[in-house]
Amino acid sequence: MCGIVGYIGPKSAESVLISGLKRLEYRGYDSAGISVISKDNKLETRKKAGKVSVLVQELADLPIAPAHIGIGHTRWATHGAPTDRNAHPHIGGSHHRLSLIHNGIIENFASLKKELSAAGTVFTSETDSEVVAHLVAIEYDKLQDLKQAFMVVVRRLEGAFTLLCIHQDHPDVVFAARRNSPLVIGLGQAENFLGSDVAAFIEYTKHAVAVGQDQIVELRSGSFQISDFEGNPVEAEEFEVSWDASAASKGGWPSFMAKEIADQPQAVGDTLMGRISSDGSVNLAEMADLAKLSEANRIVFVACGTAAYAAEAAKYAIEKWAKIPVSVELAHEFRYRDPVIDDKTLVIAMSQSGETMDTLMAVRHALSEGAKVLAVCNTQGATLAREAHATIYTHAGPEVAVASTKAFTAQVTAGQLIGLVLAWQRESLPIVELKKIGLELLTLPRKIKEVLDTAASMGELAKGFADAKSVLFLGRNIAYPIALEGALKLKELAYIHAEGFAAGELKHGPIALVENGQPVIVIVPSRLGEGSLHAKVVSNIQEIKARGARVIAIAEAGDSETGDYADEIFFIPETMPLLAGQLSVIPLQIFAMELSNAKGLDVDQPRNLAKSVTVE
Ligand code: AGP
Ligand code: GLU
Repeated sequence: MCGIVGYIGPKSAESVLISGLKRLEYRGYDSAGISVISKDNKLETRKKAGKVSVLVQELADLPIAPAHIGIGHTRWATHGAPTDRNAHPHIGGSHHRLSLIHNGIIENFASLKKELSAAGTVFTSETDSEVVAHLVAIEYDKLQDLKQAFMVVVRRLEGAFTLLCIHQDHPDVVFAARRNSPLVIGLGQAENFLGSDVAAFIEYTKHAVAVGQDQIVELRSGSFQISDFEGNPVEAEEFEVSWDASAASKGGWPSFMAKEIADQPQAVGDTLMGRISSDGSVNLAEMADLAKLSEANRIVFVACGTAAYAAEAAKYAIEKWAKIPVSVELAHEFRYRDPVIDDKTLVIAMSQSGETMDTLMAVRHALSEGAKVLAVCNTQGATLAREAHATIYTHAGPEVAVASTKAFTAQVTAGQLIGLVLAWQRESLPIVELKKIGLELLTLPRKIKEVLDTAASMGELAKGFADAKSVLFLGRNIAYPIALEGALKLKELAYIHAEGFAAGELKHGPIALVENGQPVIVIVPSRLGEGSLHAKVVSNIQEIKARGARVIAIAEAGDSETGDYADEIFFIPETMPLLAGQLSVIPLQIFAMELSNAKGLDVDQPRNLAKSVTVE
């Protein structure tokens, strides 16, 4: 979960590395550092705890030599505190001529470190990564062949790693390797790039190559070679990046969070684009990959965090429309409870980054059990997309803020699309009904925009809760996972304890939490349609009001009855009940963001978090 950049070409390596690290900083920001090989073939390194801005200051105080080759790293610590010494790059060997950066965890680093220490290696950090730097340097001193040395070492490593390495004796090449952590190549004119994701080099090139599992990259300014860990050449998978550099910058918004919340009409619209025709029918051709998987007799989602709540929200639609049993499993639980799955199970891995180790490990387990695996991913060329049988991309664009917003609404939409496609294939609903659903999905971008246009009041309201010690969120049916997501946003962004409950569960215990002035946000379902749960949720509001709760209701436009009981109410446009989640979540996102801002917190990079958790 760190940011990695590599460069070789005519530009200033320092400037390319720093601009890339700034774009990747959301992936981890405990420390940052770069190494370059100067024009007179000297390896130089600068690294500092803290954000990239601290490194930039260090470089101003202690300029690094001009260079055209280099590697850079922003860290999310797993082994060793965020200190200067533990910052990457790490220097290998006693001659200090090799520099290496690492994303991931070397699970067998302790035994390797013991072996090296016994042979006299002196370590300067507490990290697992430094072990690799010394191993490669020592192997190189023996073999005098950097590629061979790199291959020998990577074959010894266990766990997750993306490695970039440069050596003073070879100022014309950057070596890289990956297993279980992300790596992409950016192809330029007489220059080439490496990055954890395309944001590292998006301002220079959109021509990219995905690097697969257990592969090594030999990168020069005019060429690149990919091989497996045995040295066998591997075919490159080239792709064009659809994002542009501006999409990965704030674009004038006060924060990436604000920008990405506002991006949601487009994120949902782009995720629907080309997949539903103007008459509401689904474009099966675009979803053809899914067709191969539709003989499943049950669906199991595996995901973490917000992605898991998106899966929970989509579950209601898939079950109701496609009449197929759906369960949602937290990937880290699924992986280790020996689940009963087989070749009739469709496992759907929901992941914005496509690099979440918990989710990847769950997918690998499912694959080993013969299940079909469909990925729902927002990041092109991600590991998850390459390991699944098929991928349906959300098109939310780069989500830079660590707390997920537009990816969430896009993920729910993608999940509903899957339900709709399966319903068409299984003919589980009349076509006229299916088209109606398709047409309603197409109205969501406009309706999300309507919510955003009236959301300032929710932001204003939030500011009054800066001293709240806890906030409860209630929702029923499709609104239950929305309540869970609203609570997670508040925890992540405002560091306030928050808990989401199924509204019907309240009376079975949690209502004991309600005391005078306790803020409770209640997502009220539509009054319309048969089986509406509106009356039940209004009763829940009365139960907590009777105990002194301060109730903020999110309700459908025109719902005056709820307005009679809630202390504050925020209206969202009417839509099909199963599609209301993409609308009701917006005010909850804004509530959390504005409360974070009111508390003066870092809304884009909250404490302790990383954008992509690439360790188990
Ligand atoms: C969301 O706000 C959190 N940052 C986190 O829960 C995240 O959703 C989770 O780690 C899964 O990430 P993924 O979608 O990239 O797999
Ligand atoms: N495990 C390494 C460390 O703690 C790398 C962590 C990361 O991916 O940033 O330094």
